[in-house]
Amino acid sequence: MREEVVRRFPLEYKRYIEVFGGGGWVLFHKDPRRDFEVYNDFNSLLTNLYRCVRDKPDLLMNALEYVLNSREDFERARLSLRRKRTTDIQRAAWFYQVIRYSYASALTSYGSQPHDIRADFPLIEQAHRRLKDVVIENQDFERLIRHYDRGDSLFYCDPPYHATEGYYQNIGENGFTEKDHIRLRDRLLSMEGKFLLSYNDDAFVRDLYDAPNIQIQSITRLNNIKQRYDPNCQFEEVFIANYDMNERGLYVPKQFNLFD
Ligand SMILES: C[S@@+](CC[C@H](N)C(=O)[O-])C[C@H]1O[C@@H](n2cnc3c(N)ncnc32)[C@H](O)[C@@H]1O
Repeated sequence: MREEVVRRFPLEYKRYIEVFGGGGWVLFHKDPRRDFEVYNDFNSLLTNLYRCVRDKPDLLMNALEYVLNSREDFERARLSLRRKRTTDIQRAAWFYQVIRYSYASALTSYGSQPHDIRADFPLIEQAHRRLKDVVIENQDFERLIRHYDRGDSLFYCDPPYHATEGYYQNIGENGFTEKDHIRLRDRLLSMEGKFLLSYNDDAFVRDLYDAPNIQIQSITRLNNIKQRYDPNCQFEEVFIANYDMNERGLYVPKQFNLFD
């Protein structure tokens, strides 16, 4: 979806803020231009990993050098991550190991796929160069948006989808609840800057953003994970923005399939 996201960015903005950064797919895809860029996520394991990639890539690669692709090593890293206090580098290395070697990167069970983690080192170096001037924040979205909101800011938001909140329960005590979706809407609708938001297409989301001067576009994509079992499994998503998403002359029919 990253192509579809980036082509909807407005022509003019100076600050780019990725509010729910996750794996940073959009940030890593977008042209850095001369933007002031911020990556944020509430999950401190992610922000610690990216800070180590940005600031100490050599130490991180040293810590990963002797990682084994084995169930025992995976379980040791997974449990240590929960229980042990350690250095930022060791924490980043365990986290990276657990993401890389877990099934579907879900951090829970060993994936049993052949892969040498040292083959990722060039990618870590590439990410290090891309993140060089990126500010990395570990804040709840509301505080973050308030902090960076200016007329020339663009906020890209990819929050946990509505009705899938349980997946993110490791983050807060109750995960991302309906109250958080409403809190996000209230913050976005009262901001000075521009926002582009992606969501799953459902009645609750459409109702939340049924407001003056808000554009909603729908898009259908194949569902990457479910597709393994059902090749035609599709997923309805929406893009929501407080500016004209067609300002680059982009023609977007109401419904289309990314893979047509
Ligand atoms: C749908 S994922 C974002 C995926 C991302 N676009 C990517 O490229 O991987 C949602 C992210 O929001 C983060 N998150 C959950 N609650 C948050 C909050 N209150 N404030 C900021 N980030 C939050 C989660 O840790 C998760 O990484």
